[in-house]
Amino acid sequence: PLVAVIVVAAGSGTRLAAGQPKAFVPLQGQPMLAHALRGVTGMREPAQIILVVPADRVVEARQIAAGVNIRAEADPSVSAPVSALDLEVVVGGSSRQESVQRGLARLHPSVEIVLVHDAARALTPSALADAVVDAVRATGHGVIPGLAVSDTIKRVAETAADASQLGTVLGTVDRSELAAVQTPQGFPRHVLIAAVAAASPEMTDDAAIVAAAGHPVRVIAGHPLAFKITTRADLDRAEHLLAAART
Ligand code: CTP
Ligand code: MG
Repeated sequence: PLVAVIVVAAGSGTRLAAGQPKAFVPLQGQPMLAHALRGVTGMREPAQIILVVPADRVVEARQIAAGVNIRAEADPSVSAPVSALDLEVVVGGSSRQESVQRGLARLHPSVEIVLVHDAARALTPSALADAVVDAVRATGHGVIPGLAVSDTIKRVAETAADASQLGTVLGTVDRSELAAVQTPQGFPRHVLIAAVAAASPEMTDDAAIVAAAGHPVRVIAGHPLAFKITTRADLDRAEHLLAAART
């Protein structure tokens, strides 16, 4: 395949606090990871899928992927049915960036475009990933989905040690210059590999790493369903959206 999708699912889900790693927490009866994979397998173009999971979840992740594969074959809405999903499961690292790097190490030689996607964005439509691939191909640049920000955003003086004590307002940020960014984020393979090699370890955002290496990154229209499930409230919202879509 010319495209690879690295699905990072190796986080612990501290903020969700569901008693197990976030990607394995059920959402309408199926692990979040299964939902995320359904989106990826629905892409127009066949892709290499690299699933990055916690060390003790490799077997379970393979089972989840097998289930998604069977359903994808039976589903006529999946435009490129996958007879045998080109998927491998690898063990993640202690930071998101490390997990991305473990995935990058597994790319097939044929891959030219790499997408990095959070499993926590479980409801992301396949069409958003297709649009990212199209835009990377058309521009040769990094591409990230983003949504306009609707909240009024303030710049605030450094937070005190006590999280309930936020600092003083320094000013309002011009909203028209802001985008809330999502995944999948897409890059030409050589650009991402070179940028990651040069990145400092504390950088979490792939697009920031690529931009810091001096490569342009474009924003395309994101999708409301590509929101990240971080807290209990996000999970509740995802449950409601799926339940509503079913009726
Ligand atoms: N991720 C990963 N490896 C890590 C940390 C994060 O693969 N060491 C992945 C998560 O599984 C998730 C995505 O990166 O799909 C976005 O991270 P986040 O939403 O922060 O998930 P967690 O780190 O699991 O959650 P928290 O920060 O609340 O612990
Ligand atoms: Mg995290």
